[in-house]
Amino acid sequence: MEINVEELVLAAIEIREQAYVPYSKFKVGAAALFEDGNIYKGCNIENASFGATNCAERTAIFNAVSKGNRTLKAIAVIGDTENYTAPCGICRQVMAEFAENENIKVIIVKNSKDYIIKTLDEMLPGSFTKKDLEI
Ligand code: THU
Repeated sequence: MEINVEELVLAAIEIREQAYVPYSKFKVGAAALFEDGNIYKGCNIENASFGATNCAERTAIFNAVSKGNRTLKAIAVIGDTENYTAPCGICRQVMAEFAENENIKVIIVKNSKDYIIKTLDEMLPGSFTKKDLEI
């Protein structure tokens, strides 16, 4: 499947505006390409009980999975627009659950022109996944 990085970058920037962030004021947007060829978008959604907050990456991935998808092909994330924002550890683990393989692209976006591309394995080396549960 062709991965249009620019399209993912723009989708992440667009959905960032929907972030519900009354506490941190830190908006995050994510756009995930799945096996059905669609881009699923998500923003962070905070909660007065802070631990109930959902990150943008997980909102995007759970949106896709709830539509029947199971295979993540690439994901773009934007937080701060002045600096590169690294996905949190829990989101890296959720990416690993659905990633097609450890080499999928994680696109860390600062703005529409500035982004860096890493593999999931670079972000979460030696990850624990479903293959570790095989007996
Ligand atoms: N956040 C994300 O949405 N994704 C990450 O990978 C890092 C953190 C959100 C959670 C919270 O709403 C805000 O950023 C500050 O932690």
